[in-house]
Amino acid sequence: MPKVTFTFDGKQIEVEAKEDETLLEAAIREGVPMEYACGGNGFCTTCRCKVKQGSENLSPRNDREENIGITEDPYRLGCQAQIQGDVEVEIAEG
Ligand code: FES
Repeated sequence: MPKVTFTFDGKQIEVEAKEDETLLEAAIREGVPMEYACGGNGFCTTCRCKVKQGSENLSPRNDREENIGITEDPYRLGCQAQIQGDVEVEIAEG
């Protein structure tokens, strides 16, 4: 199972993720404070996060991310990026 390391509020936790679940789904299940104002539909950017390692282990950036302006590394939308291997993610502020 892929491992996801989340960093937030000066804390770091490592969780096991199911293959192809999104960063947001893993965060919600594990109590990580990733926000999702649009319900995970790619319309808000509150789930925006910074990929510190393992960006190649996430699904490719999709149209919803591009359309809302998340076009450059290291940023991804947590609700759109699917986990395919180990990854380290920081919950972005602001
Ligand atoms: S939860 Fe709104 S864009 Fe991801």
